[in-house]
Amino acid sequence: MDMSENWLNGLYDHIQVLDDREDGELSETERLKQIRRPLLSWYRENARMLPWRENREPYRIWISEIMLQQTRVEAVKPYFFRLLEELPDIRSLAEVPEEKLLKLWEGLGYYSRARNLQKCARELVENYGGQMPDDFEEILKLPGIGRYTAGAIASIAFSIPVPAVDGNVLRVVSRVLGDRSDITKPVFKRKTETLLKETMDQEHPGEYNQALIEVGALVCVPNGEPKCPVCPLASLCRTRRDGLWKEIPYKPPKKQRKREERTVVIFERGGQIALKKRPPSGLLASLYELPNAEGHLEEKDVLEAFQFGEKDVLSVRALPKARHIFSHVEWEMSGYRIELGPDARGDGNLIFTDKKGLEETYPLPNAFSAYKKLIMCNNGKGRKR
Ligand code: ADE
Repeated sequence: MDMSENWLNGLYDHIQVLDDREDGELSETERLKQIRRPLLSWYRENARMLPWRENREPYRIWISEIMLQQTRVEAVKPYFFRLLEELPDIRSLAEVPEEKLLKLWEGLGYYSRARNLQKCARELVENYGGQMPDDFEEILKLPGIGRYTAGAIASIAFSIPVPAVDGNVLRVVSRVLGDRSDITKPVFKRKTETLLKETMDQEHPGEYNQALIEVGALVCVPNGEPKCPVCPLASLCRTRRDGLWKEIPYKPPKKQRKREERTVVIFERGGQIALKKRPPSGLLASLYELPNAEGHLEEKDVLEAFQFGEKDVLSVRALPKARHIFSHVEWEMSGYRIELGPDARGDGNLIFTDKKGLEETYPLPNAFSAYKKLIMCNNGKGRKR
């Protein structure tokens, strides 16, 4: 071999890299390899102390990751503590009555997460000896677990070097790379997964994934100006270099939510309140609700809707309007408090319960919380007829 030629090649390689750095055109892979070190050392200094970071028990990691989907860290904390206290392991989650689980989940929203959690726990008990498997592909097969959650569990609990790409990570990566692609498209998510799998820290995958999430949550924030002056990735970030944080990440405009008018009724009979169980599929499936009907109804139409007659009614009072925003629908609610006589039965589908039942037994989604508050503090009681 000609030694001098070999030596020269090596030199050219080096010059190539320096050139790339100078005009900022590192390859995507090279740029992502370079974020590893500053990212991890920043995380070790700046990671929040969060309850699910106290240890790496797969059950805790799994529960926290499911709760953290579409929900803020601060909102998750009390639910995380309560669920772990009541259901400390996979078996207890598999065995708890669904209604009790939904009650523990009450207010956290996206209730199919809770139902899937239990489905998954049952599958783990039946087919995996009550343990979370320590294999990414096996975790991915479980009900309610997608690529993000499987990646988070595999990397954090089992140190398996697979990425966990959520909205935070998509934002950070698209900004570092200066990629204007639509980040809501699955193809961008897959590309990000592929790039990160190649370039992520192989020794500390759990810390690495959480560090990307943490930078996304605390520095490269989802709303408003990113905190580039304190970002560990600032010198490698093309979006910062080009001043494009308003353009990247790109998301197409969202469709407007559908608006629905509803009338919600607090039926009170002998100190008890009427609830209804919702159907087992669709919005808020299997949860309970205050009786309600489509549209903003007049008093007589409300009574007709629930098959009460004039003789059933002791008093009626209109309640303040309230609004609740779901992901795709918005409810604009008007309300009544209707005091019923002791023999009033209505359409036979109402369940009457006292305040204790409302507090401790029946899961009632947040959509009704404005009216639930009125019940709990006994406001809005009707005038006698
Ligand atoms: N969001 C999603 N996963 C998270 C985690 N492990 N820590 C903090 N925020 C998160």
